[in-house]
Amino acid sequence: MQKDELIKKFQEIYRSSPEVLSSAPGRINIIGEHTDYNEGYVLPAAIHRRIQFIASRGDDDHVRIWAEAFDEERFFSLKSLSGSDDHHWDSYIKGIFWVLIKNGMSPKGINAVIGGDIPIGSGLSSSAALEVSVINGLNGLFRLGIAPMEKATMAQQAENDFVGMKCGLMDQFISVFGEKDTAIFLDCRSFDYDRIPLRLHKESLEFLVYDSRVQRELSLSDYNTRRWEAAEAELCLQRLGLRGYRDTKSTSLNIIENKMDKTLYKRARHVISENERVQRAKKALQNDDFRGLGQLLFQSHASLRDDYEVSCPELDLLYDFGREFAGCLGSRLTGAGFGGSGIALVKSDAKDVFVREILDLSGKKGYVKPRIFPVKIDKGARISML
Ligand code: GLA
Repeated sequence: MQKDELIKKFQEIYRSSPEVLSSAPGRINIIGEHTDYNEGYVLPAAIHRRIQFIASRGDDDHVRIWAEAFDEERFFSLKSLSGSDDHHWDSYIKGIFWVLIKNGMSPKGINAVIGGDIPIGSGLSSSAALEVSVINGLNGLFRLGIAPMEKATMAQQAENDFVGMKCGLMDQFISVFGEKDTAIFLDCRSFDYDRIPLRLHKESLEFLVYDSRVQRELSLSDYNTRRWEAAEAELCLQRLGLRGYRDTKSTSLNIIENKMDKTLYKRARHVISENERVQRAKKALQNDDFRGLGQLLFQSHASLRDDYEVSCPELDLLYDFGREFAGCLGSRLTGAGFGGSGIALVKSDAKDVFVREILDLSGKKGYVKPRIFPVKIDKGARISML
């Protein structure tokens, strides 16, 4: 639903007008996968697809929310929030209230509707967009005075400690800080960041999203297992006399190859080489070297497929096809993997053929029909008081 329809829906349900309209974007990650929780580098960009959170203050400690995606209404009381939950879509919202209260703030009950156009569970970070739109909306409604960086870290804390998904900061960060036609290079150790203008129009290029529609439940164990393995692998490097991921070069890694568990070695090799690729990608973008960037995207996918083992046949198809297709400069899975979405950097005039041929191929392989659409790189979270 568009914003105006959501406002109408709010009026219909609550028989009053909303006080705040808050929205936050999903993202693509151009490169830098599974590096954020390893104190590495990432290069995401916010997209034009957003979650809308429309709300007003309630009379008591009760939260009442209707969600477009599920056409369902849920209620909960702020008095009975605990750190464990039944993992329903409103867990993300409960998590935000929970984290605010934990940080000494006093939000009250609300009436709200939530909608938007980010496909849920597609790897475009709909959950971070939901969290950020809610925290930003509550910040406005109750004048909580939360600074931008805190919005991102508190949203991450809600997801880590309430929902139980041990994500890094990338998604929440870019949902707050995204800018139009700009990617953000984020150092996930110091949290310093640089804005990197994306001058794709110079070579008539666009990013396409390829939503494989292979559903994965992110908070399930695979992601958390990778996180654990990566931490374990880093400890191994250090025990073997190397330094942590950030301070180890991929060229010095092979010295210890035979001294480490094979799986952990591969996890380490991905993180170290991916950090190097992100830094090269930043330079490529600064020089408008899109061919160079494209090659790094391909390399990133191969590393995620072979070393981090988070791809799937549907996303490998995007990579394989992208490499063969002349108008595609680079393609790879984006986000956590295990299904979800990929991105392809394509020439605008070759876009239609690209889409037609890959749909055809995917059909022949008997895969679920992917959703493919261009994305505009857009601004981060916004709020207006009505
Ligand atoms: C998910 C997480 C992020 C990041 C990516 C993988 O999107 O939310 O923190 O770890 O996966 O790069």
